Amino acid sequence: MDFQHVTVLLNETVDGVVTDPSGIYVDCTLGGAGHSQRILESLNPRGRLICFDQDEHAIRHAQELFSGDERVLLVKKNFENLEKTLEELGLQPVQGIMFDLGVSSPQLDEAERGFSYMQDAPLDMRMDAQNSMTAKEIVNTWREEELAQIIWNYGEERWAKRIAQFIVQKRQERPLETTGDLVSVIKAAVPAAARRDGPHPAKRTFQALRIAVNDELGVLDRVLDQALRCLDRGGRIAVITFHSLEDRIVKERMKSWLGRCTCPPELPVCRCGAKALARVLTRKPIFPSEEEIEKNPRARSAKLRIAEKI
Ligand SMILES: C[S@@+](CC[C@H](N)C(=O)[O-])C[C@H]1O[C@@H](n2cnc3c(N)ncnc32)[C@H](O)[C@@H]1O
Repeated sequence: MDFQHVTVLLNETVDGVVTDPSGIYVDCTLGGAGHSQRILESLNPRGRLICFDQDEHAIRHAQELFSGDERVLLVKKNFENLEKTLEELGLQPVQGIMFDLGVSSPQLDEAERGFSYMQDAPLDMRMDAQNSMTAKEIVNTWREEELAQIIWNYGEERWAKRIAQFIVQKRQERPLETTGDLVSVIKAAVPAAARRDGPHPAKRTFQALRIAVNDELGVLDRVLDQALRCLDRGGRIAVITFHSLEDRIVKERMKSWLGRCTCPPELPVCRCGAKALARVLTRKPIFPSEEEIEKNPRARSAKLRIAEKI
């Protein structure tokens, strides 16, 4: 089965997360299995790797790739079920957990998944085909203000209000069915002068819808503390993000694990009981090298942060 995804920050992530070759590791975002393969190379026969992906295609690809490797366990679930699943499997604590967020190249490239503004396809954008919410439902049923808000917040699109207004006008004639329908509406909404340079005018709105359809920020927010609880002492968590909204969530959560006292300065003794749970190993995030970005432009916006449980 073909599954072409160029792995981002491969050595930096795996070297940062694997500390014990006999340990149990979790790759929460299997995708094309680039990180997973490298983790397995670092483990001895006693090591174990649990891989999560909510996308059936990623799981099927890995079933072929890892068939016969008894160290690997594939879980077709949203990673927000991390703690419950590890508990059920009796595989806790673990020595390392990694996330390489967002979508894989095959998800973007397979036109019928509806992630791409370059190819006409039904407005879908679900990573998990069993979820009920699709991009079509959002653009055709959400209120204009809600649409404007997600396009502004998740897409950082300055024309969000106009785009939302145009979507609502258009759907009064007939529902928007395809990515092509949406691209036409966006092109009509964004003034020609603003469309002349910069990225494709639909890029930001598509990103926003994808984040909303898959509740990408919600699941990230809900999984990070779970991941810390699942770790053994000295165990590590590594997260690769691709935009500022994700990175802010990771940065803030790791900061909260440092347990800095939040008492007012005038209090003579600490009352808040803050306790350090982890130390952050990346004071500044790790970025891909220029060489990596040249080979794989998708790596340009990647940032890696790593923390270690105390
Ligand atoms: C960027 S790709 C990972 C690529 C992989 N690290 C590699 O080297 O090939 C992200 C993958 O994570 C999956 N994914 C994203 N969010 C998820 C979630 N909340 N639960 C489970 N899988 C998720 C996507 O379906 C996709 O296959």
